[in-house]
Amino acid sequence: MAKFDFPKGFYWGAATSAHQVEGKNNNDWTEWEKEHANRLANEASKKKFPEHILNLNPSPLDQNNYISGEACDHYNRFREDFDIAKSLGHNAHRFSIEWSRIEPTEGQWNQKEIQHYQDVINALRERGIEPFVTLWHWTLPTWVAKQGGWENKKTIDDFVRYTYKVTASLQGVKYWITLNEPEVYTGKSYFTGTWPPQKKSLIKFFKVFCNLIEAHKEAYTTISKTGAFSGISQNNFYFNLFLNKISDYQNFIGINYYKYWNLGRLKSDMNWPIYPKGIFHVLKDLKKYKKPIYITENGLADAKDEKRSDFIREHIKWIARAMKEGANVRGYLHWSLLDNFEWSDGFWPKFGLVEMNYNTMERKIRQSAYEYKKIIESNSIEI
Ligand code: BGC
Repeated sequence: MAKFDFPKGFYWGAATSAHQVEGKNNNDWTEWEKEHANRLANEASKKKFPEHILNLNPSPLDQNNYISGEACDHYNRFREDFDIAKSLGHNAHRFSIEWSRIEPTEGQWNQKEIQHYQDVINALRERGIEPFVTLWHWTLPTWVAKQGGWENKKTIDDFVRYTYKVTASLQGVKYWITLNEPEVYTGKSYFTGTWPPQKKSLIKFFKVFCNLIEAHKEAYTTISKTGAFSGISQNNFYFNLFLNKISDYQNFIGINYYKYWNLGRLKSDMNWPIYPKGIFHVLKDLKKYKKPIYITENGLADAKDEKRSDFIREHIKWIARAMKEGANVRGYLHWSLLDNFEWSDGFWPKFGLVEMNYNTMERKIRQSAYEYKKIIESNSIEI
């Protein structure tokens, strides 16, 4: 077996998003959760879950599972969480800024919240961890949702103004991710109609898709003026539709990889097939854009932590093989640092390197996190 050495300075870490970990948010999702928790719990009672999932607290049958509420209280405990990340050898971390905290009312900036995110960035930097900061990870301030969200062209201007405010105010960020998985959002919110605002319309789907493209391009131009880098995080599905539209408006490509069509016999707790080799194909395909690539998410729901160590090792192996064949990968961010609120599935899917006890807010490092740490420390992998 040969050994592949990652380049010096390769970024290793994990990712989160504001709504999934912070707690006490007030945005379009929090409103939606209150209205739909009952229905989601009822629907879950008609599905088949294995015993160990039904025994989780909260369980998928419990309404509380579908209310983000306090989440991981990461808003208050970020220093403790970054201490854990540091102890696990991480030198990079992706998190998102909650627009609804920064601009709770149209045009009114909340300086205290801007300072909060500056504190978050400083806490990372003090621990030698490079921040990768997402500006929009799917949630909208309620005033934006009320004006029609991304269906309304005005939201583009509002988003760009928010981008300007945040990127001009916050110091110490080199890598900005403007939008998280715009295709997944557009699909779930406007095509299948399963996520807020639950519209099913091809016309709206295209409108939102085009508005997100415009929003990214303008945000990219705004960020470029500060000298920082920006790109999007895209899911490997959707044939690079979004990427092709913005290819001249990005400094890097962020890729979120979970699965590859229906290949792979082994399944995660969410029944997603596991197929590490797919990341190799995806990365080789992305070579044509001639941009640095960051894996901005890759992970699985695995409450028993039985499959995560192999999952991480195998994916990193295939990333190394793609790099050997010329893919310009600069970092790997595992999803996620903590168990968290998995959108309309709620709390039961366990994606964390760190296990959460939602009653006590206690954090417990999973064995797989230590296995990942070994890879990080050797900065190499057997391929
Ligand atoms: C999203 C995350 C989500 C993860 C697992 C990604 O598509 O960006 O927010 O938790 O997938 O479903």
